[in-house]
Amino acid sequence: VDLRHANTLRLPCVAERYAAPRTLAQLQQVLAVARREGCSITLLGGGSNVLLPETLSGIVIRPALNQWWLEADAHGLTAHVGAGVNWHQLVMALATAGLWGAENLALIPGDCGAAPVQNIGAYGVELADRLKAVQVVERATGETRWLSSDACQFGYRDSIFKGELADSVVITQLQLRVSRQPKARLDYGDLASRVSASPTPLAVANAVCAVRREKLPDPEQLANAGSFFKNPVVPDQQANALRERYPAMPCFPQGNGLTKLAAGWLIDQCGLKGFRQGAFGVHERQALVLVHFGGGNRQGLLALADTVAGKVAARFAVTLTPEPRLIET
Ligand code: EPU
Repeated sequence: VDLRHANTLRLPCVAERYAAPRTLAQLQQVLAVARREGCSITLLGGGSNVLLPETLSGIVIRPALNQWWLEADAHGLTAHVGAGVNWHQLVMALATAGLWGAENLALIPGDCGAAPVQNIGAYGVELADRLKAVQVVERATGETRWLSSDACQFGYRDSIFKGELADSVVITQLQLRVSRQPKARLDYGDLASRVSASPTPLAVANAVCAVRREKLPDPEQLANAGSFFKNPVVPDQQANALRERYPAMPCFPQGNGLTKLAAGWLIDQCGLKGFRQGAFGVHERQALVLVHFGGGNRQGLLALADTVAGKVAARFAVTLTPEPRLIET
């Protein structure tokens, strides 16, 4: 099965087998077959945060549970969302319905089931702030269970689904807290200046889309996987020393002795915006995004990533690590 169009970087990848179960029962059947035949499993969502190898053995599973619904109880409103629902479409449907909660996370590509894995975040909000619980199915037994938000061990672009549970579960459903009570979060960047004093969730979602469209390339037009590197988190002392030499450097103190730096700024300072190496390049409007012009493979992309990280390390003594997940053969 050709997965070139199943990953937004358009990296060439051929998988031995592929399944897109639409129901929990179908997913459990696929897991049982994989177990019986002893074949390895690779999970794929929208393919917007993965670095695929040229060949994948075993079976690739894309959970396609596409239902979502709202439930009201004494504590408020909860959206129950199947893993296969497209994240951006969910955000826009909630915002259009006048519901607050997910609007700052508009236009993030990918499926809802993948959202908790890297704890998607943008414009001052992370999924973890809105998530009540995650349903998973155990690969070994086919049994389902719920994890509370606390049990997911969320961090910056991190969760238990990248660690302890990386190879043992499949995410099948999310529960998100949503609300009719206005609670706009507009303090990141120039978001506040793009909406009225008391905006609707739809107005905020539209403003977020506008900001993203100005800076981030549309994967449909120019293959990419969003931010290619995580924003590095360094000791305050190191950040302060850099700040003395580069007073304009953006810094986000985390309040725990650590400061988050803007990888995009560091790369930009090295003069790399628009830099091209083979089939890949640094995006000309947002240096944190690496783009694929076509005809390349993962090796070529990782070579460009090395060049970029090498220049940043030489100039700032800061280590950049890739944000998308490296999928093993
Ligand atoms: N900057 C530059 N030059 C650049 C890029 C950025 O000087 O080429 C500066 C900006 O001017 C700003 C700072 O760096 O002062 C931060 O830039 P921006 O607000 O664009 O955000 P980011 O740190 O580059 C992060 C997330 C994005 C998310 C935005 C908005 C990560 C790895 N990236 O990017 O998430 O949309 O904040 O919240 O945390 C993603 O993960 O794929 C992603 C796109």
